[in-house]
Formats: sequence, structure tokens, C-alpha cells
Amino acid sequence: MHVAVLGATGAVGRTMLEVLVERNVPVEQLTLLASERSAGRRVEWQGREYTVRAPGPGTFRGVDYALFSAGADRSKSWGPRAAEEGAVVIDNSSAWRMDPQVPLVVPEVNADALGTLPRGIIANPNCSTIQMVVALKPIHDAASITRVVTTTFQSVSGAGETGRDTLRHELAGEGLEGSPFSRRIAGNVIPQIGDFDPEGWTSEERKMINETRKILSLPDLPVAATCVRVPVDLGHSVQVAVETERELSLDEARQALASFPGIIVSEGASGFPTPLETANRDEVFVGRIRKDPFLPRVLHFWVVADNLRKGAATNAVQILEAMAR
Ligand SMILES: NC(=O)c1ccc[n+]([C@@H]2O[C@H](COP(=O)([O-])OP(=O)(O)OC[C@H]3O[C@@H](n4cnc5c(N)ncnc54)[C@H](OP(=O)(O)O)[C@@H]3O)[C@@H](O)[C@H]2O)c1
Repeated sequence: MHVAVLGATGAVGRTMLEVLVERNVPVEQLTLLASERSAGRRVEWQGREYTVRAPGPGTFRGVDYALFSAGADRSKSWGPRAAEEGAVVIDNSSAWRMDPQVPLVVPEVNADALGTLPRGIIANPNCSTIQMVVALKPIHDAASITRVVTTTFQSVSGAGETGRDTLRHELAGEGLEGSPFSRRIAGNVIPQIGDFDPEGWTSEERKMINETRKILSLPDLPVAATCVRVPVDLGHSVQVAVETERELSLDEARQALASFPGIIVSEGASGFPTPLETANRDEVFVGRIRKDPFLPRVLHFWVVADNLRKGAATNAVQILEAMAR
């Protein structure tokens, strides 16, 4: 198959190239795309050298799958063109996620949504949303979810290579032009990811609310999110409080989570997942599973995943695999 990666020089794009190899995706032809700034750059992949180029008319002709991770503006302009030229587009940006004609897919949760592609585009959800819905789905299947309240602790790599560089420079006591964060991130936590709307919610929080409802096909589900940037290089952590229609025992909840594909329940006397311990893994790790002390139908748990892998590249490659099947 012929695969194109738009954003191949970025944090997500480079991880996609690793994941394609690890999962033995049968890529016979590879096209690496980025901005004009990177055009001409040589990248080695599977013992061969590839030249990065900027996309142009005809770039996606003959391409089977186009993996996009170059920001929403590029996805808006190049997505429909790539689809017109015959590629199936799997897009990591927020550009198409809430379009009713574009499936928003986490394969373990709603692969059935891949049945029809009116636009030829499939959207990969927001990173913290992906790991949260993987953990919510088995709870929903077991006892029907009626409400979700979440707080996230999101690493700087969620803001791409610039986010990582900013933390590195601040820790080294150096300044850096063009930080993607509204405050200093080293030694700090910032309860703002994206812009605020008039009601006081940030764009990242709205993504978690709207995308969770779409992926779970629960358009009226009450969801509230507080998204926080933390000075961690890689890996997002998400605290979830979930109310169910039927009361679930702790054992039932643990069993439902542990038997779901892609989840590792990590508990025990001193056991709980952290971003450092779960970096470079493709699974979603769940720990600290507790029943609310006052509300019997409410569970609390802690969910950690590598945002560049399950939160982006791995999920996109899993979508490609599901389509290829
Ligand atoms: N980081 C995450 O955890 C995460 C998770 C889920 C989704 N996403 C989404 O994935 C996308 C990429 O994120 P990232 O973290 O990989 O960002 P990044 O490290 O900043 O990489 C951005 C990529 O886009 C390319 N690009 C920028 N402007 C371009 C243009 N005009 N034409 C073609 N290519 C262009 C860059 O190429 P140059 O090197 O040439 O500039 C680079 O390859 C974003 O939409 C982001 O929202 C990210």
C-alpha cells in the first residue's frame, strides 16, 4: 500500500513512522510531506532514504492512506483535495472531528463508525479524549454512563515539538521565543489549554465534552472537563468521575476495565500508572479505581496514556489497519 504522512517532521508524524514499522503495516510506498521549511530534508525509514516535500496538486494521486498531522488549517485545505485525488484521509487535527459526515473513531470503541465515509475523511479524536473514552466504554457497556466529570494533566508534547522545546529551555534557565503556553510552564501548572469561550470553557475542554458525546453516540451525555497543562514531557493523565445508571461494584468495574482491549489495569498496594512509567507504550493504563464515598453510582479512576502514541499516532494507524481489513 502507498501511505503519505503530512506533518512527517513533527512530534506526531515521526511517531507515526515508528508505529507503522512496529505494527508491520505493509507499506510499499511512502510519501513524506511537511512545510516548505522542511522540503528537501532527508529522512531514513526502514533502511531507505526519503526526501520530505511540501504537498502540491497531484501529491495524493495513487496514495491509499494519507495520515495528516500538520495542524487544522492544513487539514482543512489539503483533506478534501487528498480525498478527491483518491486517498482515504486519517486526520489528527481538530478540523473535521465534529463534522457529521466525518466519523470520529477510536477503533476499540466505535470501529463500526468506519462503515461510511461520505467525505473520504476519518478524524482521530483529541488526545486526552481518546484515552478517556477507552476507559469509559467498558463502564458504559456494563452499567450505562449517565454523567462524566474529568480533570486532565496534559504533557507539553501535546503542544508539539515547540511545547517540548519550551519546557527544556525554561528548565535550563533560557528564554525561548514563541512559547505555545500562556504562562511559564517549568515549575508551574496552567489551567488553560486553547482559548477561552464566553462561558469560560477552553477549546480543549469543549473538545473533550463534544468528542466524548460523539464517539460514545450519547449526544445528550452531561460531560464537564477541566484541562490543565503540566510540566511533563510525554504522557497525559486524566482523572475521571463517572456516574452510571446501575450501581457497579468495584470488582465489576475492575473486571470490565481489565478485559477491554487496549486497557491495562495497574493497581495494587503502591501501584498506579504515571506518565514516566507508561511512555512509549500503546495501551491505556487505569489505576486508583474507587467508589465514591457518598454516591454509590459514581466511580473515580485515573487514566494515563502516551499522547503521541494512543493519543495520536497509534490510534491513527489502528484506524488505517481497520480500514485495510
Ligand atoms: N502532540 C500531540 O499529542 C497531538 C495529539 C493529537 C493530535 N495532535 C494534532 O496533530 C497535529 C500535529 O501535532 P504535532 O504535535 O506533531 O505538532 P508539531 O510537532 O508542531 O509538528 C507539526 C507538523 O506539521 C508540519 N507543518 C506545519 N505547517 C505546515 C504547512 N504549511 N504545510 C505542511 N506541513 C506543515 C510541520 O512541518 P515543518 O517541520 O516543516 O514545520 C510538522 O511536520 C496537530 O493538528 C495537533 O493538534 C497532536
